[in-house]
Amino acid sequence: MSVVAYPDPQPGRDAAPGPLIRIEGVNRTFTRDGKTVTALSDVSITVAPGEFVVLLGPSGCGKSTLLNIIAGLLPATSGLVEVGGQPVTGIPQQIGMMFQKATLLPWRTIRENIALPVQIAQGRKAARAAQARVDDLLDLVGLRGFGDQWPNELSGGMQQRAAICRMLVTNPEILLLDEPFGALDEFTREHMNMQMLDLTHRLGRTAVLVTHSIAEAVFLADRIVVMSARPGRVAGVVDVKLPRGRTPAITTSPEFQSYVEQARQVLQDGHSAEMTG
Ligand SMILES: Nc1ncnc2c1ncn2[C@@H]1O[C@H](COP(=O)(O)OP(=O)(O)O)[C@@H](O)[C@H]1O
Ligand SMILES: [Mg+2]
Repeated sequence: MSVVAYPDPQPGRDAAPGPLIRIEGVNRTFTRDGKTVTALSDVSITVAPGEFVVLLGPSGCGKSTLLNIIAGLLPATSGLVEVGGQPVTGIPQQIGMMFQKATLLPWRTIRENIALPVQIAQGRKAARAAQARVDDLLDLVGLRGFGDQWPNELSGGMQQRAAICRMLVTNPEILLLDEPFGALDEFTREHMNMQMLDLTHRLGRTAVLVTHSIAEAVFLADRIVVMSARPGRVAGVVDVKLPRGRTPAITTSPEFQSYVEQARQVLQDGHSAEMTG
C-alpha cells in the first residue's frame, strides 16, 4: 500500500486537550412486544485522539449498540455522548463507519461506490471531482486497477477493501469498525487486520473496533474495553503495551499470550476492576 498525504481533518481545531470521544453513564434500553431489554447499563468510555480502542465481548453485550450511539445512528436512552467536545445529535462529520458486510451497491462500479458518500453529501459534480482521491485510496488498499469493475467481480476481502476506501473518502478523523472482517476467512482476516492497523496509524486516525475475538483484540488494540452481557456493561479495561508496527509474528510471543490471558480473565470475571499491563 502506498502512502497518501491527507490534510488535517479538522484544520484550525484548537489544541485544547481532551478525549475525542466521551461516553459517560450511558444507558440504552429497547422495548419490543412490551418487554424491555437493557442493552447498555451505565457505560463510560473515553477515547483519545490517535488511540486504537477495541470493544471486546460476547454476542449481545451491546457492542454494536454502543458503536451506533457514538455514530449518532441511535440515541442513548440517557447519559452523555460527546464527539470532539460536542454532544452527538446527528451523525458527526468526523466519523467514518464500516460493517461486517461491505454493502456495495451492485449496480455501481467500485469507483462509483467509493465516491457515493461524497455524492450524497455534495452532489454529482463533487463526486466526479473526487476521482483522483478515489484513485489514491484504491492504491492505498491495493485495489489499483479494480475501480471500473463491479462489486460481484471482487472477492469478499477485496469488497471489504473497497468499503475501507468508501469509509475514508470523506476523510474522517474517527473510524468506527463493527467486526469489519468477521465474515472473511481467517487468513484474509489476519492480513486485513494488519493492514487496517498500519493504515490507521499511518494516517493518524482514531479507531474504535468491535470484535468477539480475544486474540484479534490484543493484536489491534492500544486499549481493550471488555464488555459483559445482560445488561451490557464495561467489565474491565486492558491496556495493551505491545509496540506498534505489529505483525502476526507477535501473536506467539509470551507478552501477547499474557495479554490474551488477562483479557480472558476479565471476560470470565465479568466484573473485574481495571487491569493494566
Ligand atoms: N433494534 C433493537 N431492538 C430490540 N433489541 C435490540 C435492538 N438492537 C439490539 N437489541 C438488543 O440489545 C442487546 C445488544 O445488542 P447488540 O448491540 O447488537 O450486541 P452485540 O453487537 O454485542 O452483539 C441484545 O440483547 C439485542 O437483542
Ligand atoms: Mg454486533
